[in-house]
Amino acid sequence: MQSDLERILFDEPTIQRRLDKIAAQISNDYRDCDLTVISILNGSLIFMAALLRRVPLPLRLDCLSVASYHEKAQTSGDVIFKQVAMPDVVGRHTLLLDDILDSGHTLAAIREKLKTAKPRSIRICVLLSKKKERARQVDADYVGFEIEDEFAVGYGLDFKEQYRNLPYVGVLRKELIAQES
Ligand code: IMP
Ligand code: MG
Repeated sequence: MQSDLERILFDEPTIQRRLDKIAAQISNDYRDCDLTVISILNGSLIFMAALLRRVPLPLRLDCLSVASYHEKAQTSGDVIFKQVAMPDVVGRHTLLLDDILDSGHTLAAIREKLKTAKPRSIRICVLLSKKKERARQVDADYVGFEIEDEFAVGYGLDFKEQYRNLPYVGVLRKELIAQES
């Protein structure tokens, strides 16, 4: 799998050090709060598991599954919710966890839908955020790393459902994406 990468962006120790920092911030910000963390499947799974083990707070964990990519390397803009019901978050602080903030379509749609479940607050935490103009206005409250507008894989991020299990984040070789589109 490593030979499919152009270069490694963040190795495992670098990611772990950053997660320590974000987890400390989250633990401090949500002390004495009723917190529900909502993990967006499948991309945030590895990040979520590593992050939440560093957050020693009582919290609930729910997952939401959406599809927006349809196996291509660009966001389509249509966000399809695979569940009809939202988690029960009435009056609770919610923290959405996702792998990456790119165009903003996915998190904007999830945030809107989550609002209908009447949470007390909604914040967003992402492992990666692309430095670019977004189609939708979304600011993440907690960001692991900012990256250029390149296609990243690993640590939960996929290309066609591959590479999620890489323990680091890297940039996929462009010719591999070009072959598929
Ligand atoms: P957005 O709706 O464009 O912000 O994209 C959000 C989703 O697209 C993420 O949750 C990822 O699943 C996927 N995505 C966007 N950029 C990348 C990337 O560089 N690598 C892998 N997946 C990506
Ligand atoms: Mg994906």
